[in-house]
Amino acid sequence: MCAALELAQRARAYSSPNPWVGCRLVAADGRVFEGSTAPPGGPHAEVVALRNAGAAARGATAYVTLEPCAHHGRTPPCTDALIAARARRVVVGILDPDPRVNGRGLSALRAAGVEVELGVGARAVKAQLAPYLTQRRTGRPLVVLKLAASLDGRIAAPDGTSAWITGEAARADAHRLRAESDAVLVGAGTVRADDPLLTVRDAPGPSPLRVVLGPVPPGAAVLPAVSMSGDLGTVLDQLGQRGVLQLLVEGGATVAGAFHRAGLVDRYVVYFAPALFGGDDGLAMFAGPGAPTMEGLWRGRIEAVTRLGSDLRLDLVPEPDDLGTGPGGPEPGGPEPGGPEPGGPGFICRGDM
Ligand SMILES: NC(=O)c1ccc[n+]([C@@H]2O[C@H](COP(=O)([O-])OP(=O)(O)OC[C@H]3O[C@@H](n4cnc5c(N)ncnc54)[C@H](OP(=O)(O)O)[C@@H]3O)[C@@H](O)[C@H]2O)c1
Repeated sequence: MCAALELAQRARAYSSPNPWVGCRLVAADGRVFEGSTAPPGGPHAEVVALRNAGAAARGATAYVTLEPCAHHGRTPPCTDALIAARARRVVVGILDPDPRVNGRGLSALRAAGVEVELGVGARAVKAQLAPYLTQRRTGRPLVVLKLAASLDGRIAAPDGTSAWITGEAARADAHRLRAESDAVLVGAGTVRADDPLLTVRDAPGPSPLRVVLGPVPPGAAVLPAVSMSGDLGTVLDQLGQRGVLQLLVEGGATVAGAFHRAGLVDRYVVYFAPALFGGDDGLAMFAGPGAPTMEGLWRGRIEAVTRLGSDLRLDLVPEPDDLGTGPGGPEPGGPEPGGPEPGGPGFICRGDM
């Protein structure tokens, strides 16, 4: 399953709004064939692996991160393909929460006499597919708030300039984060101050939908962009309805403060530069009222600390996280140690799955 997770990661920036899935097919003679989800309209991971295997799929075991689909979407059901190829056994990470699939994929395989095992590597798969699972469970995208700050927590100088606080490696990593997101959002204040493009340039993958909270000035570099306004929960509902699985909020301080105070951030990614503004007149990470007393202090869990050139990337998630209890089906054997950093920088598959 570890290898299947790595195959899924290869499709991470390309498969949305479909989930990024990996499939490793081990033939009866021990040969191995691989598949990752193709961009929308293309074959799913199981079909890619089956095509690579050809006749060798007969009697094979397929390790697939997400339950194979059993319905006609843009492509025919993967269960049909596995059954037609005469696969002997299918090992699955988690059930697909999509109501068109949920349990039906496994039932179809079992009904055709295919041996099925569920729950292998489930915790790691849930972490890897967190944006997809969140959108299917809540109708809203997973929200990642990204900021670049000095070590004294400032994101812009008193004159409003903020380019570039961090170095090249951190900026390239931020572009990877954009490529993995379906939409990127900034406030109108950032558009006025920085006139950002918000496209993906320093990483492989497509540019996300660009969203501005508030009015977009004519001729802004961010255009074409969607201008949205009003209640942030409603904004997320609307983006979820558009098929956005992961929303990257890139500031500025007003927007960051609003998302944070509303409890709408699922992951904070902060790039810290070894630099100090050295005063209190630079722009703080969050504008607006913060915790009034120690009792109101927001506390999270640091999930990863990554060195990027001379900068640090900190991944912070709210407590408690629900990785063990999300929708994806049962988790036999409880939590598994040594899974990947969920959605963190890069993808590390550790442990024996
Ligand atoms: N270092 C970093 O990571 C980073 C990232 C981004 C930005 N920045 C810096 O941050 C500064 C900009 O921050 P900022 O706080 O001034 O601006 P901002 O947060 O980017 O934008 C605030 C504006 O967004 C609009 N807005 C926010 N919520 C809205 C809602 N729910 N509905 C409708 N409109 C909404 C309002 O626009 P209107 O006022 O037009 O109504 C509001 O004034 C700049 O200096 C920029 O360089 C730094």
